[in-house]
Amino acid sequence: MSPSTIHSVRKIYKIASIPADGIGPEVIRAGIQVLNKLASVLGEFEFHFNDFEWGSKVYKKTGQYIPEGGLDSLRDYNAILFGAVGDPDVPDHISLWSLRLAICQPFQQYANLRPTRVLRGTSSPLRNCPPGSLDWLIVRENTEGEYAGQGGRTHIGTPWEVATEVAIFSRHGIERLMRFAFACAQKRHRRKITVVTKSNAQRNGLVLWDEVAAAVARDFPDVEMDKMLVDAMTVRMTLHPETIDTMVATNLHADILSDLAAALAGSIGVAPTSNLDPSRQYPSMFEPIHGSAGDIAGKGIANPIATFWTAAEMIRWLGHEGAADGLMHCVENVCERGIKTRDLGGSANTKEVTEAVCNEVESVLGQTGKGRVDSSQ
Ligand SMILES: NC(=O)c1ccc[n+]([C@@H]2O[C@H](COP(=O)([O-])OP(=O)(O)OC[C@H]3O[C@@H](n4cnc5c(N)ncnc54)[C@H](O)[C@@H]3O)[C@@H](O)[C@H]2O)c1
Repeated sequence: MSPSTIHSVRKIYKIASIPADGIGPEVIRAGIQVLNKLASVLGEFEFHFNDFEWGSKVYKKTGQYIPEGGLDSLRDYNAILFGAVGDPDVPDHISLWSLRLAICQPFQQYANLRPTRVLRGTSSPLRNCPPGSLDWLIVRENTEGEYAGQGGRTHIGTPWEVATEVAIFSRHGIERLMRFAFACAQKRHRRKITVVTKSNAQRNGLVLWDEVAAAVARDFPDVEMDKMLVDAMTVRMTLHPETIDTMVATNLHADILSDLAAALAGSIGVAPTSNLDPSRQYPSMFEPIHGSAGDIAGKGIANPIATFWTAAEMIRWLGHEGAADGLMHCVENVCERGIKTRDLGGSANTKEVTEAVCNEVESVLGQTGKGRVDSSQ
């Protein structure tokens, strides 16, 4: 095949990048550098990034995170790569609801996937956690539940002020999420799922949650299901990580459990998220789990691995499994060589880790080609 033919079969992906606040721009810049390197080495796809300057700086000037017509302008992209939103001058509920949730909810990105494992070359703070014993997939409901946005405040400022935060659980919302979660569990080699609940105390929404889970389970007889109260789940994750594979939980529960999971796997600085619209009607959005980390923003020391892993998940969603695995293989090689940021016990900065991963992509994937990885390397 001539080079011009190779070029003509390359897939071109339009990616909307929204770096936003704090360390967001630092890690997204690093992610784009690694994605472009991967694309040029593999030659099977190309990325056309378009940077959107939406974030708290613009909000403070204009009063808007997303300008008029902004959501519509995202619809034509193959994916969205998001940094983090959060600024000390803006209340967190304003920034979160005006940008991140303002994309996830209308775009029906109802399945939030959070793979968690101890990467090669890193370690868990748990005493008894040999490699391979913590390898989880958290599936979080992402459009309703406790973050449905229902509620209000009355008698504001008076001693009899009232505020409600109503959790919404619809049969439709639970069922589509459960089906997606069971299908994910079915694809993993252990075929095991834990349905996380709190139906002892939350006796309406989470009883429906349990009933729908049990009904969906009947359609997946090859997936072993168990059920666990969310409080007990924190104990099991800490003391018996090897007994868990896929877990499915509500918006709030999984939000909390996935930060715990990230810490148990080594650092919030490596944890990825995919906000997926499984119908593919809207673009899905990929972001590191962490927030804007104001305490380290601008210092050049943020761990970019969460964004690299997020980028790998984005490529996987776009259909390039081999390239995604290849990228993670290179990231883990770099960790194993000790080129790590401070949160992982190393002394490298963002730029050094990024350059090391780019060099690894060039030397490992450039040799094996097309994302195939020789595990001895
Ligand atoms: N998806 C999002 O955009 C998102 C998620 C969580 C929090 N937030 C927002 O971010 C702001 C800060 O929130 P927070 O402090 O609770 O959480 P955070 O994740 O920003 O930071 C928690 C701690 O982890 C560290 N950390 C986070 N990412 C790191 C990285 N890549 N490398 C090294 N260390 C890292 C930080 O330095 C901090 O000590 C708030 O405004 C919050 O609302 C946004």
